[in-house]
Amino acid sequence: MSKLWGGRFTKKTDQLVEEYTASITFDKELAEEDIQGSMAHVTMLGKCGILPLEDVAKIKDGLQQVLAMIRKGELEYTIANEDIHMNIEKTLIDLIGPVGGKLHTGRSRNDQVATDMHLYLRKRVVEFVGLLQKLQEALIAQAKANIDTLVPGYTHLQRAQPILLAHHLMAYVSMFERDIDRLKDSYKRINVLPLGAGALAGTTFPIDRHYVAELLGFDGVYENSLDAVSDRDFIIEFLASASTLMMHLSRMSEEMVLWMSTEFGFIELDDAFCTGSSIMPQKKNPDVAELVRGKTGRVYGNLVGLLTVLKSLPLAYNKDMQEDKEGMLDTVRTLQGALQLFAPMVATMKVNKDRMRQAVNQDFSNATDIADFLVNKGLPFREAHEVIGKTVLYCIQNGKFLLDLKLEEFLQFSELFDERIYDVLQPEAVVNARNVYGGTAAPQVSAAISRAEAAIADTATWVEEYLERAHKTV
Ligand code: ARG
Repeated sequence: MSKLWGGRFTKKTDQLVEEYTASITFDKELAEEDIQGSMAHVTMLGKCGILPLEDVAKIKDGLQQVLAMIRKGELEYTIANEDIHMNIEKTLIDLIGPVGGKLHTGRSRNDQVATDMHLYLRKRVVEFVGLLQKLQEALIAQAKANIDTLVPGYTHLQRAQPILLAHHLMAYVSMFERDIDRLKDSYKRINVLPLGAGALAGTTFPIDRHYVAELLGFDGVYENSLDAVSDRDFIIEFLASASTLMMHLSRMSEEMVLWMSTEFGFIELDDAFCTGSSIMPQKKNPDVAELVRGKTGRVYGNLVGLLTVLKSLPLAYNKDMQEDKEGMLDTVRTLQGALQLFAPMVATMKVNKDRMRQAVNQDFSNATDIADFLVNKGLPFREAHEVIGKTVLYCIQNGKFLLDLKLEEFLQFSELFDERIYDVLQPEAVVNARNVYGGTAAPQVSAAISRAEAAIADTATWVEEYLERAHKTV
């Protein structure tokens, strides 16, 4: 079978070169988008009088047939046809004859492939926002169920101050809200049309780029034809947003793994999200959380990989740029897997409230509050810090916690102590004393939950609207 570009060649392509340079094994994932772009392109060629309308109709009909073949898994992709664009074009010509060869008028694979990537990624970005919303919902449901559950808050992984478990969970809701914002924002730069840039310099045909943009639901077209075919910033931006998101999931995974250990015993992940050991019958391992933590590495790798591919590339298209696909597709798959599993894993997570309570009771995380008590009595904070430090040391030496001490024992360290310290030291009092915007006191956490729910409602509306836009076809 001769190549679509075979005219100026006198020799067959070396078999190994053919295999090495082909991208069909992975870019076949862009098949739907390739047809979507071609449908708009050929519609425009008709509208601008570049192709007769009867040819346009034949080509569109042929493209629909190819699409049906793709969906049924009947299209046989060949390495000889190099990539998705030429596999589709060749099949079209086989189906409808030489008129199919008019489709590529005023277009190059360079602006075609870029268009496919934009079309593909804008759908994925909206889907990821939707998946993040589901995860936020699962976290909020757990937060509501744990609005009165106390847990030690940590710094340096040492118990610091008691907090509400709901507050801890809502921290992740905030992190995922930033991920949602980043993805929504990146949509603006993804949703720009490169088609019409030709190979690099534009085209001699009187095409209408803005009309194609309108047909496909793009917000605009690239300003500069060289930039249009050379730009992969939008993929880098996606990979960077994905990396940050995976970093968040990885931090949460680490806490789940830690909290499910016998040493912590704070939570138990559902059997459906854990696996066993082939040798140790007692084992129940948090594999999903571990794998998400582990797969964060490849997502970072794909970002650095593409940044490195593009570093020092001269304008405009270079074959190096074909390397933009596998990493992106891998990141998409990895994120889909992680997000699809995380929401139900969080939703079904069991919280061991008693164990958390025990951890809160048996520590010194109320020490800051008793120092604040002395400050409120007029002692400079530094002196209060010193007094409580000594009090804690006394407790440690005598195997006691602050609430075990008698008032006489407190009075050895400062005459400012009085009976009221026993109220101040209660973990609930410690938590509720932090009644500042964004703090852990129950009313503040409830308010935070309400704000998050409002944001989720906005996100749901956005997803609905943009999902439809992203799938706009001719
Ligand atoms: N398969 C190519 C890619 O993914 C399509 C563009 C080819 N352009 C070219 N001038 N060889 O980058």
